[in-house]
Amino acid sequence: MADLSFGGRVAIVTGAGHGLGREHALDLAARGAKVVVNDLGGALDGTGASSGPARDVAEQIRKDGGTAVPNGDNVATQPGAEAIVETALSEFGRVDVVVNNAGILRDKSFVKMTTQEFDAVLGVHLRGSFLVTHAAWPHLRTQGYGRVVLTSSPAGLFGSFGQANYASAKMGLVGLAKALALEGAKYDIKINVIAPVAYTRMTADLLPPELAERLGPQFVSPLVCYLAHAECSASGQVYSVAGGRVARVLVAEGPGWLKKGALRAEDVRDAWDQINADQPQVVPAGAGEQTEVLFRALQDS
Ligand code: NAI
Repeated sequence: MADLSFGGRVAIVTGAGHGLGREHALDLAARGAKVVVNDLGGALDGTGASSGPARDVAEQIRKDGGTAVPNGDNVATQPGAEAIVETALSEFGRVDVVVNNAGILRDKSFVKMTTQEFDAVLGVHLRGSFLVTHAAWPHLRTQGYGRVVLTSSPAGLFGSFGQANYASAKMGLVGLAKALALEGAKYDIKINVIAPVAYTRMTADLLPPELAERLGPQFVSPLVCYLAHAECSASGQVYSVAGGRVARVLVAEGPGWLKKGALRAEDVRDAWDQINADQPQVVPAGAGEQTEVLFRALQDS
């Protein structure tokens, strides 16, 4: 099988000045993609800004023989997101791949979390992914091709104490992907979600330092490159990825329980075990398919 090459393709990677995004940009560029290396260059909590990190990564790519341009815009503002896409168009004439990776943390227990802390985290992760993808979307549609990767987290998929803002944003991205997979299908736009674990500045205080190498970003970027490639036919899917392990994460529905006639709260209580049964599962490809399952159950009852 041939190597996965990105010759002639243009990729945007947001938050590519550090950590995972940096590795995605380096890997895509090494495979021949022209890369817009976006990074606001702020602190982990999103405060501050610097053009240094994006510039350093773009320089590294050029030194390695690749093609890249730095961009210091903020994904969380509409003008910033539009400028990122405009950079791809003005520098390289097109955009094929959008890797939404930029992220910040404002961890707090829910009781202490301010509205500002909630909004700031959703603003970068969820709204930022919406804005950058939205700015690229008309170009992907017109050319009848696009690959979009969104960056979720186990914290959102499975829950995490002290991260109500982050978890909400990260699960919101799953909804965004599920909807856009349906809207993009006709135009060969595939949109998938990764939920990584990697040793970066974001996790340096959480993960044991002896796992730094074993959980390096280089074990995440290969999945991003595959999802960003023309050969990938998956869309609307979620994959957890870390340390060389990749697993599909499913949004599934159990067999359910159906009562004929009037339904009372007491009926729900009495059927609680059946309602919570998780086998056999169905994994609907969209809300329409889930509704068909419901209609079939109603017909059969
Ligand atoms: P990181 O802090 O090393 O990288 C995030 C980058 O995003 C930084 O370079 C930062 O400057 C940039 N950024 C932040 N706000 C921005 C904005 N408004 N506009 C443009 N750039 C901005 O962290 P890491 O670990 O590489 O995270 C990358 C993504 O992966 C994030 O979305 C994070 O939530 C996600 N993630 C990481 C995990 C891990 O184990 N490291 C676990 C699950 C998800």
